[in-house]
Amino acid sequence: MKNKSVPIAPPEGKLGVLIPGMGAVATTFIAGVELIRRNLAQPIGSLTQMGTIRLGRRTEKRSPKIKDFVPLAGLDQLAFGGWDVFRDNAYEAARKAGVLEGSHLEPIRDFLETIRPMPAVFDQKFVKNLHGPNVKKGRTKMDLAKQLMDDIAGFKSASGADRLMMIWCGSTEAFLKAGKTHQSLAAFEKGLRSSNPEIAPSMIYAYAALKSGVPFANGAPNLTVDTPALMELAQEKGLPVCGKDFKTGQTLMKTMIAPGLKARLIGLHGWFSTNILGNRDGEVLDDPASFRTKEESKLSVLEYILQPEIYPELYKDFYHKVRINYYPPRGDNKEGWDNLDIFGWLGYPMQIKIDFLCRDSILAAPIVLDLVLFMDLAQRCPEMARKGIQEWLSFYFKSPMCAPALYPEHDLFIQLMKLKNTLRHLRGEGLITHLGLEYYD
Ligand SMILES: NC(=O)c1ccc[n+]([C@@H]2O[C@H](COP(=O)([O-])OP(=O)(O)OC[C@H]3O[C@@H](n4cnc5c(N)ncnc54)[C@H](O)[C@@H]3O)[C@@H](O)[C@H]2O)c1
Repeated sequence: MKNKSVPIAPPEGKLGVLIPGMGAVATTFIAGVELIRRNLAQPIGSLTQMGTIRLGRRTEKRSPKIKDFVPLAGLDQLAFGGWDVFRDNAYEAARKAGVLEGSHLEPIRDFLETIRPMPAVFDQKFVKNLHGPNVKKGRTKMDLAKQLMDDIAGFKSASGADRLMMIWCGSTEAFLKAGKTHQSLAAFEKGLRSSNPEIAPSMIYAYAALKSGVPFANGAPNLTVDTPALMELAQEKGLPVCGKDFKTGQTLMKTMIAPGLKARLIGLHGWFSTNILGNRDGEVLDDPASFRTKEESKLSVLEYILQPEIYPELYKDFYHKVRINYYPPRGDNKEGWDNLDIFGWLGYPMQIKIDFLCRDSILAAPIVLDLVLFMDLAQRCPEMARKGIQEWLSFYFKSPMCAPALYPEHDLFIQLMKLKNTLRHLRGEGLITHLGLEYYD
């Protein structure tokens, strides 16, 4: 059934992608886009590039590609800029990150070398294990925010971009709970002027982006834009935001497996997860304050999916532990082990072991691409932009942001249905409920 489609402005001109934190994830994303643009690689893992969407009844056999169904910017329209505490250009940073091989980096070296990070807003109190020279100086945090706004305006005119979006790919900051300063925009701005210690660098980027009319996505578990103050600013400006923490690796597996166990009413005594990784992200997470932020993000997933309050016989008091160990020899190729102690019919125990030899940034890069293109779609669609939080993008996050009265949806399959039904809604197509009785009338 066709309904009225929702107005969306066409994706004309260039889309500037601004990235605070040009490390492993950011450079793997940028290099990947350029390789794909030059027909040297395939966009594996990207829903916007390879995914399809079923429309109408199963008998209609209509499954266009998502990129042909909704008006997304094309890869040729993307321009990149960003900030980092290190001065390395994107080629040098990608080399150091060690994710992509020379055979992928050398053919696009000329392009990557043109992307040089602007000086960062950085405070070592929030990322203890990082020391870099490319850092801004300012009298107050408001002064630093203004410098970022100047950078944003400068990038827009230099790149000739028509629209911008910002996506945080910077390190995980120390754990922070929303305090008084984060409760309203007025309090936050006062805090910026007095350099309140509760304001983390990532919040200054988010503030500068939203003030400049730029949507903001958060790839790390930091609080960042997930506060009443910055949500007030997003609503005031009618801008989309989303976060937190890209769903890759072990948590991706968890949100695939846990819904399956619950679907078959299989009980859980305990889930022990451990990781070894040797990249800079691993080094940053070796600091207990940064790990605490990550841990919160990783732990909440099972509670929400398994709903122990509704299924006490199956999930009450299950033991859940997550460990991350910095182990340099592994680089970005991390290993995640999971041991699940489960139980079935009459309470008989069983075990599942998972050993995932994954490449974190290879899993994260297509997420960055999809978020860039979908957030740009949202900013061109007033109905979506004015909602602020883009819950339909929960699919991509470990700790999805949602309205204050809601709990986040973590089940990967519900998240995918939510995403695709949102796209159907935007284009005036009937939502798919999978009821299916009509085939038997
Ligand atoms: N790799 C993954 O699969 C994955 C998954 C989920 C979340 N994340 C998160 O994404 C972020 C990036 O991961 P990564 O593997 O690329 O890490 P990385 O250490 O390679 O890159 C992060 C970069 O951010 C820079 N940085 C830190 N603070 C900054 C600031 N205030 N301003 C500008 N730059 C700053 C660092 O210098 C570094 O170059 C991390 O927070 C990580 O936890 C990564």
